[in-house]
Amino acid sequence: MSRIAYVNGLYVPHGEASVHIEDRGYQLADGIYEVWAVFDGHLADAEGHFARLERSLGELRIAMPMSLAALKLVLRETIRKNRIKDGLLYLQVTRGVAPRDHAFPTTPVRPAIVITAKPVDRAASEAKAAKGIGVITTPEIRWGRCDIKTIALTPNVLAKQAAREKGAGEAWFVDELGLVTEGASSNAWIVDRDGVLRTRDLNANILRGVTRKSLMELIARDGLTVSERPFSVEEARQAREAFITGAGSLVTPVVAIDGAPIGDGKPGPVAMRLRASYVSEASGQAA
Ligand code: PDD
Repeated sequence: MSRIAYVNGLYVPHGEASVHIEDRGYQLADGIYEVWAVFDGHLADAEGHFARLERSLGELRIAMPMSLAALKLVLRETIRKNRIKDGLLYLQVTRGVAPRDHAFPTTPVRPAIVITAKPVDRAASEAKAAKGIGVITTPEIRWGRCDIKTIALTPNVLAKQAAREKGAGEAWFVDELGLVTEGASSNAWIVDRDGVLRTRDLNANILRGVTRKSLMELIARDGLTVSERPFSVEEARQAREAFITGAGSLVTPVVAIDGAPIGDGKPGPVAMRLRASYVSEASGQAA
């Protein structure tokens, strides 16, 4: 079955979909994106991602390309046309097409929108989680507004490539104090030596992960203790467990950091239990 993309009002075959060469996303990375996990044809954590989408656009003074109600219909239709059961839905909105100029266009232009959907092999991703991944650490070189989900991802691209070249699945950014901020495309967590779940606070320069937020609720329900207190690379090395969260990784155990095993070098029980709870919650509650 051929894939279908939604581009500026039209559903088009994926292979033929294109945007204008003066799209400001293409030339200036002047745009934002969102990614939803799809379970059984439905969006997981739908509302959290919509709220962040509106916030990212607002921060950059880009208008919503259509009403939220219309956007929800288009997203559902993209899932339907691609017959996605389990997958990932990608939405990108840029400021639009205009002659290249760093400042905003003086004549208002319509925001440009692209939506794509792809299937995810859940069995393969469960098998990957059951093995766990390694992470590498890399200096935090990103800009000061990582709370906005912009498509300007050069440092993330370089960090992820460095991880791949070292056989790791994710890169953790480390700030000038030696504290982990987050991953190149995920939030970072540990279960520290006291059994406390730790992840970076939202005053730090990180993306406010929607999966992170949902997991907080599951953790509270599970009776576990969570603390939004930064952790150092050394604390991560000494931790009982580590894991990452995101729409793509869901909850994925981290078993090594810069090549050194964490705990016994196997996925930890807390991470695995939280993954199972997140998946069952997302499957049941997906909108
Ligand atoms: N990335 N931090 C960064 C830098 C991210 O890019 C992401 C998500 C997250 C996790 O956010 P959420 O739980 O809302 O997905 C944290 C997406 C999946 C991506 O870039 O593909």
